[in-house]
Amino acid sequence: LWLAVGIRHRQPGEPAVENGLIPYLGCALQFGANPLQFLRSRQKKYGHIFTCKIAGKYIHFLCDPFSYHSVIRQGRHLDWRKFHFATSVKAFGHDSFDPRHGHTTENLHQTFLKTLQGEALPSLIETMMGHLQDVMLKSDTLSPSRDHWQVDDTFLLNSQILCSAVLQVMFESGYLTLFGKELGEDKCQARQEAQKALVLNALENFKEFDKIFPALVAGLPIHVFKSAYSARENLAKTMHAEHLSKRENVSDLISMRMILNDSLSTFNDISKARTHVALLWASQANTLPATFWSLFYMIRSPDAMKAAHEEVQKILGDSGKTVDPSDPSLKLTRDQLDNMPVLDSIIKEAMRLSSASMNVRVAKEDFLLHLDNQEAYHIRKDDVIALYPPLLHYDPEIYEDPYEYKFDRFLDNKGQEKTTFYRSGRRLRYFYMPFGSGVTKCPGRFFAVYEIKQFLTLVLSYFDMELLDPGIKAPPLDQSRAGLGILQPTYDIDFRYKLKSSQ
Ligand code: HEM
Repeated sequence: LWLAVGIRHRQPGEPAVENGLIPYLGCALQFGANPLQFLRSRQKKYGHIFTCKIAGKYIHFLCDPFSYHSVIRQGRHLDWRKFHFATSVKAFGHDSFDPRHGHTTENLHQTFLKTLQGEALPSLIETMMGHLQDVMLKSDTLSPSRDHWQVDDTFLLNSQILCSAVLQVMFESGYLTLFGKELGEDKCQARQEAQKALVLNALENFKEFDKIFPALVAGLPIHVFKSAYSARENLAKTMHAEHLSKRENVSDLISMRMILNDSLSTFNDISKARTHVALLWASQANTLPATFWSLFYMIRSPDAMKAAHEEVQKILGDSGKTVDPSDPSLKLTRDQLDNMPVLDSIIKEAMRLSSASMNVRVAKEDFLLHLDNQEAYHIRKDDVIALYPPLLHYDPEIYEDPYEYKFDRFLDNKGQEKTTFYRSGRRLRYFYMPFGSGVTKCPGRFFAVYEIKQFLTLVLSYFDMELLDPGIKAPPLDQSRAGLGILQPTYDIDFRYKLKSSQ
C-alpha cells in the first residue's frame, strides 16, 4: 500500500524519512517557505542526515560539514551530470548535452573550463572593463551629472527586481562582453541605437524568463507560462548563428559554443540558439544580485567604504592611473584584481549572506554513504543527495553573529584573505560555497568575482554614492529561488550618486 501511494518506508540503515503531508509535493511547501529553518529543525530532530520527499523526489540532506567531502569528491556511486543536464534541458529547451543521449560528443565541462578560466580570463576582464565604463559614463544608462545628485528612485513596479542601476549596468556590460558588438556599430549612430535597443530588449526578456526559472526547475512545463516562453524564444531568436556571426569581439565562451554546436552535435538551429540563452542566463542570473548585495552592503557600511576606497586608490595610484570621467579608460590587470583583499572580502561577505545554492548529486546505484563520525547510511539508486550551504553560512559557531554584515570577515589580521574557519575546534575544509563544490563548481566563478570587483572599483573611482536612508535595513531575501543561487532582495533600495571631479 505504501508503494501504491508513493510513500517511502525507512529501511534499516537508511536515514530517517519525512514523506510530508501532501502527496507528490511531500515537504516542498514547508521547505520552500523557509529552507534554512526547515532544515535546521530536521537536523535537530534527526541528526547529520535525513531524507525528505520534495516534489516526488527523495532528497537526502547531509548537514555535517565534516562529511561534505564524501559527497563532493567524485565517487563512483554519484553522478552530477544527470541532474545538471536534465535541469538545463527542462529550463532552456535545448537537446541534451549528456553524451549518453547521443545528441553531442562534446565534453561540455572541459569547454567551460577552457573558455572561462586560465588564458581566457585576461580578455574577458579587459573587455568587461571597457564596456562597464562605456555603459556607466558614455551612455545614458546612468546619465551622470557632475554637480547634481542624481536621485534615482529605484522602486520598480515589480518589487522583486534588483536595484535597477546595478541590473542595467551589469547586464549590458556582461551581455556585450560575452556576445560582442555588431560589426561596424561604432561608426554609425543609428546602429548604436539599434544595438542599445537590442540589449535593453534582451534585459526585459531575461527578467521575464528569470521570474519563472524556479518553476521550470521544479518541473513545470514552460508552455504554462506564455509570456516567459515567448521571452525565452525572443532571446533565442537573436542568438541564431546568422545573427551572432555578424558580431565582433565575441567571447571564447560563445564562439567555441558555436563551433562545437556545429561540429560535434546534431542540434538543430533552435536548439543551438537556446544553448546560448542558457549561457546568458548562467552568466547573469547570479552575478546581478551578487553585485547588488556587494554594492548595497558596501555603501551602507562607512568602514567598508573607507577601506575599499583606500584599496582602490592604492592600486590605481601604484600603477600611475588617473581617474578622468571625461576619458574613462581605466584598466585593471588580473594581478591587480587578485591583489584586492578588501573588495574580495566585501563581495564574499555579501554572498555569504545572500547565497542559497543547493549542491546536488544523484546516486548511480545503491551504496553506503560514510559520514565523518564513522556512521554509514544506505542510499538507494536514483536518490538525490543535497548539501545546502546556508547551513554553513549562517552557523554561529563558524561565523559569529551570522546575520550581521562584517566587511572584513574574510580578512586575516594581516589584512590578507582569511581561509581558516573552525567548527567545534576543528578546521573546516568547506565553509564558503556560493559557487557550488567539486566537479560542478561554477566554471565562471573567477570571472564573476573579477567583474564585481571591476564594477565596485569604477563606482568608487567615478562616483560619490549614498543610500537615501543610510540606516536602512537590508531587504529580506526572496526565498522563492532558494536552492538556485544568489537570492534577490524582496524590494529595491533608493540611492543617489554624482560624478566625482577628475583626480
Ligand atoms: C554553474 C554560481 C557567475 C557560468 C553555477 C552553479 C552555481 C553557480 C552555484 C552550479 C554549480 C552546481 O550545480 O553545483 C554562480 C554565482 C555567480 C556565477 C554565485 C556570480 C556571483 C557565473 C558567470 C558565468 C557562469 C559570470 C559565466 C560567464 C556558469 C556555467 C555553469 C555555472 C556555465 C554550468 C556549469 C556546468 O553545468 O558544468 N554557477 N555563478 N557563472 N555557472 Fe555560475
